[in-house]
Amino acid sequence: MKKIIIAIDGPSGSGKSTTAREVAKKLNYLYIDTGAMYRAVTLAWIKSGNEFSNETICEIIKNIKIELKITDEGQKTFLNGSDVSFDIRKPDVTKWVSPVSAIDCVRTAMVEMQRNIGKDGGIVMDGRDIGTVVFPNADLKIFLVASIEERAKRRQKELSQSGIHLSFEEVMAQLETRDIYDSSRANSPLKKAADAILLDTSSLTIEEQTDKVVNLALKIINQ
Ligand code: DC
Repeated sequence: MKKIIIAIDGPSGSGKSTTAREVAKKLNYLYIDTGAMYRAVTLAWIKSGNEFSNETICEIIKNIKIELKITDEGQKTFLNGSDVSFDIRKPDVTKWVSPVSAIDCVRTAMVEMQRNIGKDGGIVMDGRDIGTVVFPNADLKIFLVASIEERAKRRQKELSQSGIHLSFEEVMAQLETRDIYDSSRANSPLKKAADAILLDTSSLTIEEQTDKVVNLALKIINQ
């Protein structure tokens, strides 16, 4: 059976990771969360104690090893051999990840890794630039959106499940800041690819949004 590449892009909290994970499970595909890679770079820089500058971060990029391992519990992210899956979700990383991911050398290195991981197909990759830059020829491109209120509600719940308690207003402000950064950066900004299918998940259940993507994928696979 044909093994396709599915690109899922959209802003934070639009439902990308949940949808991508569930779609991958149903199709027996590999799910790759590319945001985790940018978070791992950000964590490496924070741990280095260096000031924020393109030069420092580009130097760090040359000397770190980021690995994604697929386990029964999902994707685990490793930085220089240590499991950092929990640490990359901490508020400090979330605060800095947008500026770090706007740096050219960071994007070049991550995009190369992502292309390598996905080149044989059978993959669902989520991020901001998967359909526009990483895999512009992806077989299926989905661009997820949702209202800011709904996205903040989801993000707040997700954070509280991992022990991080922030007010609704704080989460919403963080999302808005990140939206502006991610959509206005010069290098591969968050934007819908012309041939991506727009899906508003504001009033959809996880099951509904997963089914919509799986059905679109099956049509292409069985073509
Ligand atoms: O999906 P996430 O919230 O974990 O992503 C964290 C940040 O990483 C996001 O604010 C922008 C950046 N990112 C990116 O620039 N390109 C991607 N393909 C994925 C994430």
